[in-house]
Amino acid sequence: MAAPDLQNTFEAALAARANAHAPYSHFKVGAALLLQNGTVVSGCNVENSSYGGTICAERTAICRAVAQFGTFAPKALVLVTEPAATPCGLCLQVISEFCPPELPIYMSTPSGLGKAIALKELLPHPFGPDKLK
Ligand code: THU
Repeated sequence: MAAPDLQNTFEAALAARANAHAPYSHFKVGAALLLQNGTVVSGCNVENSSYGGTICAERTAICRAVAQFGTFAPKALVLVTEPAATPCGLCLQVISEFCPPELPIYMSTPSGLGKAIALKELLPHPFGPDKLK
């Protein structure tokens, strides 16, 4: 698959990052999910003074997509952090619930789009619904 045009998606992740609520870690994260139909769904991290209540940017974006569309077809995920970072293990598991193993995840900084790594490379052995049968 050719690399999708991700300029809008990158800008959505950057804009979401500006809204991050990160007064404790000061580590702001923006995420934007590009869907196959061109729709972009963004999210940011939302921290809580009870630290365990914190929600990562990737999960915010995924939950938004579920709430808005129910089912959806993801094409790419763009993250914006400084420095560039891979998603945490918990987010990878949640991403794997809704996205194909080939999903490219672009680890970016505010300076521009970064390199992509496929979800299946970051989480080669996700827990899956087959285990619940
Ligand atoms: N964070 C994310 O938003 N996504 C990740 O994949 C890793 C971590 C957030 C959670 C917390 O607000 C801050 O980054 C530091 O861990």
